[in-house]
Amino acid sequence: MTTQTGYELRKFVAPEFVYGIGALNLIGRYAKNFAARKTLIVTDPGVVAAGWLEKATKSLASENIPWAVFQGTTPNPKDYEVANGVEFYRENECDVIIALGGGSPMDCAKGIGIAFANRKDVLAFEGVDEVPIPGPPLLCIPTTAGTAADVSQFAIIADTSRNLKIAIVSKTVVPDIALIDPETTTTMPGELTAATGMDALVHAIEAYVSNASSPVTDLNALAAITLLAKNLISAMEQPNEIGFRHNMMLGSLLAGLAFSNAGLGLVHSMAHSMGGLLDSPHGICNALLLDHVVNFNYQAVPERYDRIAQAMGLKLDGLPPESRKEALLKCIAGLRKDAGIVATIGSVGVTAGHLPQLANNALHDPCSVTNPRPASVQDIEALYARALAQ
Ligand SMILES: [Fe+2]
Repeated sequence: MTTQTGYELRKFVAPEFVYGIGALNLIGRYAKNFAARKTLIVTDPGVVAAGWLEKATKSLASENIPWAVFQGTTPNPKDYEVANGVEFYRENECDVIIALGGGSPMDCAKGIGIAFANRKDVLAFEGVDEVPIPGPPLLCIPTTAGTAADVSQFAIIADTSRNLKIAIVSKTVVPDIALIDPETTTTMPGELTAATGMDALVHAIEAYVSNASSPVTDLNALAAITLLAKNLISAMEQPNEIGFRHNMMLGSLLAGLAFSNAGLGLVHSMAHSMGGLLDSPHGICNALLLDHVVNFNYQAVPERYDRIAQAMGLKLDGLPPESRKEALLKCIAGLRKDAGIVATIGSVGVTAGHLPQLANNALHDPCSVTNPRPASVQDIEALYARALAQ
């Protein structure tokens, strides 16, 4: 089988989604469509403080649908938080789950649904297609432009006994409906806009160079790269300007459709490993690792990285390959720094002593499988060492 013709068999999975300003207000109607008797809302204190829970519950109230609110998630959602959520869901006799927030509430909600339905600990579903019974209906409302868990087949949960993150990859964790409302991102602070925006950019880049990419994921990934690279800094500088927020949300959505189907790569393997061991923030890890991984991967698929550079707005005509790579690396590092992410991975807790374990865990992360250049544990440790040094 060839890999570059674009004619290989490829499946594309995506949920139904409603995109646009006011999508949040449809939650009552959609919960009713799923015949909800009582909904569990999984969210977090930041989203509540921003006023989005109040809007969502107003919509539910207008349809006479009761709810119970579970706020017990933290960044890098943990196995025991999912277990607490299952207990809460059962105690409150809910039958539909609503996730309202960024990646952490959404992944936690996915975990609650499948753990409840299968009567097992969430860690039992690690890997690809390991969920026998789908969970109850899951309705997602993302409030960040980054994670795209609202359209993805992924749920990432921290295994706190092994200090690593597990990936659950299954059609059963694709939400039943995503209500994607760019207005919900206007309340994100600048640092969160930066971290989640860089996460989305990494989703698109890793999907585009993935071994499992396809013509459909390519289209989504390239469009996402252009939208995200063009609008990230503007969205940070003018947080209430809905046009920039719309472009970032659309970029995140397209990146999510791409990576959910094409898979990711070493940036995510290495970021997951850091999140599991050190509870480091996901988007910041990705941002700090991206240029180092591009530098390592470039030789495997140079024409793909050149296309990424063009999608980010670079002119490469007449440049030799080495200069094209340098131009892309400079562009990525420049965007990250403009977004205020300027330190090394030492800033999120990594020390030289952590590198062997981090590298070993990253090697076994499922995202490593679709990285375009095979990497040994030594390669990965060397990448961490570079990211720690500069
Ligand atoms: Fe990510």
